[in-house]
Amino acid sequence: MYPWKTLLTPNRDLPSPVYLQLANAIIQEISAGRIQAGQKLPGTRALAELIGLNRKTVIIAFEELAAQGWIELQPSRGAFVSEKLPLDRYRPIGEPASREVNAETAFELEIDTSLPILKEKPQNSINFTDGTPDVRLAPMDSLYRYCRFFARTRMTTRYLTYGDVQGEIHLRTELANYLNKTRGLRCNPENVFISRGSQMSIFLSLKALLKPGDVVIVGETSYPVVDQVVEHLGGRLIRVPVDEDGMQVEAIRKICHKETVRAVYLTPHHHFPTTVTLCADRRIQLLEYAHIHRFAIIEDDYDYDFHYTSSPMLPMASLDRSGSVIYLGSFSKIIAPAVRIGYLIAPLNMIEALNRLRKIIDRQGDSVMERALAEMLREGEIQRHIKKSLKVYRSRRDYLCQKLTSELGEWITFTPPDGGMAIWANFSPQIDLPKLASQLREKDIILDIQHNWLKEGNGIRLGFASVTETEIDHIITHMKQLISAEYKISAKMGI
Ligand SMILES: Cc1ncc(COP(=O)(O)O)c(C=O)c1O
Repeated sequence: MYPWKTLLTPNRDLPSPVYLQLANAIIQEISAGRIQAGQKLPGTRALAELIGLNRKTVIIAFEELAAQGWIELQPSRGAFVSEKLPLDRYRPIGEPASREVNAETAFELEIDTSLPILKEKPQNSINFTDGTPDVRLAPMDSLYRYCRFFARTRMTTRYLTYGDVQGEIHLRTELANYLNKTRGLRCNPENVFISRGSQMSIFLSLKALLKPGDVVIVGETSYPVVDQVVEHLGGRLIRVPVDEDGMQVEAIRKICHKETVRAVYLTPHHHFPTTVTLCADRRIQLLEYAHIHRFAIIEDDYDYDFHYTSSPMLPMASLDRSGSVIYLGSFSKIIAPAVRIGYLIAPLNMIEALNRLRKIIDRQGDSVMERALAEMLREGEIQRHIKKSLKVYRSRRDYLCQKLTSELGEWITFTPPDGGMAIWANFSPQIDLPKLASQLREKDIILDIQHNWLKEGNGIRLGFASVTETEIDHIITHMKQLISAEYKISAKMGI
C-alpha cells in the first residue's frame, strides 16, 4: 500500500501554507513516477484522516493540483492523476534535464575581465573583513512587519504598481528631515534619490559625469570598486596620497592646474580603507577647489552613523554652498547589506540626470521596502537600532584592539579608529597576507586582501562590527597560531 502518511505529512513549522506543502509533496511523488498517471488518489476525507489534516485543507490542495493540471477532479468518482501531463514532468528528480542552455553563445561576446567576479562567502564562515554590520542584530522582524502592512491589499494600488523612479516619496521626505536634523544638510525631498545601495549611486553618478578620458581623482588607497567603475566607463584615475589627516588636498589642487578634473571620490568621514578622518581645513580647501575648478565631489559617507569617541564631523555636503557635492549614504551598513537601499543627495539637475539613467536599467526601487523604512525612520526605530548597534560595535572595537595588542602586537601596528566598522592594521612586511588569508579561509575565517593595499604598509581591514567577542577570540587564536608557526622570530615592525 502507498505510504501516504509518511510521504505527505506536512511540517507546520515551515512558513509555507500546509495545503501548498501537501500539493507540492503530491507533485514530487507524481514527478518521481511513484504515483502513476491515471492513478486514483484517496478521497479527501480518508486522506485528511490519514495524515491528520483538516479535510478543507486537503480539498484546497486538490483544487490547486487540478488548477495546475496535475490531477483531474471527476464528479462523484474522485481525484485521478492526469493522463495528459507533459513528459518533462515525469522526469525523476535529480536526473539532468535533456535540454541544456549552451555553455557558449553563438554570437560574439567580449567580457570585461577587468571586472572581478564577487564570490559568495562560504556559508557559516566568519566574516572578519572590510567592515560589515552584524546582521544578527538587524531589526528584520520589524522591517518585514512594516513591509507586510504596506503590501496589504488596500495598499497594493499604491505600492505594488509602478512607482517613482527617484524613490518612494515618504522615504525621500523622512530622509531629508533626518539628514537635515542630524547631519546639517539642507535638502528637500526633491534633492533625494533612492538607489539600490551606494554601489548604484556611485555607478550612476560616474555614468552621468564621465566621458571617455575624463579624470577622476581617488586616494592612493581607496574603495576599489570605484576604480573599477571609472575604468569600465573609460575614465582616467589619478591617485593622490592619503595621510593621517585624510586625502592630501594640496595634491588635488596641483593636478587641477594640469588636468581637467571631473570628479573627486572620497570617504572623508573614515577614509576607506585606512579609517582616517579628513581634517576640517582640507575639507574647506577641497570645497573651494571644487567650486573654482568645477569638479564634482562624490562624498561617500558609508559609515557616518558609527562614531565612538566624539561627535562625528558634519559631512562636507553640509558646508557646500556651490552645488559641488554629491552625497551618498546607505542602509546596507545600518541594517544589512541585503537591504538594497541607499540614498544620494544632490542638486536638482544631477537628480534629473540620475532619474533618466536609472529608468533605462532599473525602472524603480522596491517601493514596499522603501515605504517600510520611511515608517521606521518616522517612528525612530532606525535611530534606536543605530544606538543599540553603536554600543555593541564600540565594545567589539575595544575588545579587538585589546586582543590585537596583547596577542599580535609583535606583528601588527594600528591606530584604534574613531568610528566605522573596521580597524586598519599594518602587518610586519615579512608576513605574506594573501597566504595568511588562504590559511584562515580553510578555517572558515574570511579576510579581504586588496593587492594595492599591501603596498601601503602591508595593510588590511579587520572588520570588528560583525563579530562577537567569542568570535574575535577564535579568530585571533588562529591568526596567532598561523603567524607564530611561520614567522618564528618576531619581526621588527619598522613601519
Ligand atoms: C566605501 C564603500 N562605499 C560603498 C559601498 C557599497 O555599499 P552598498 O552596499 O550600499 O552598495 C561599500 C560597501 O562595502 C563601501 O565600503
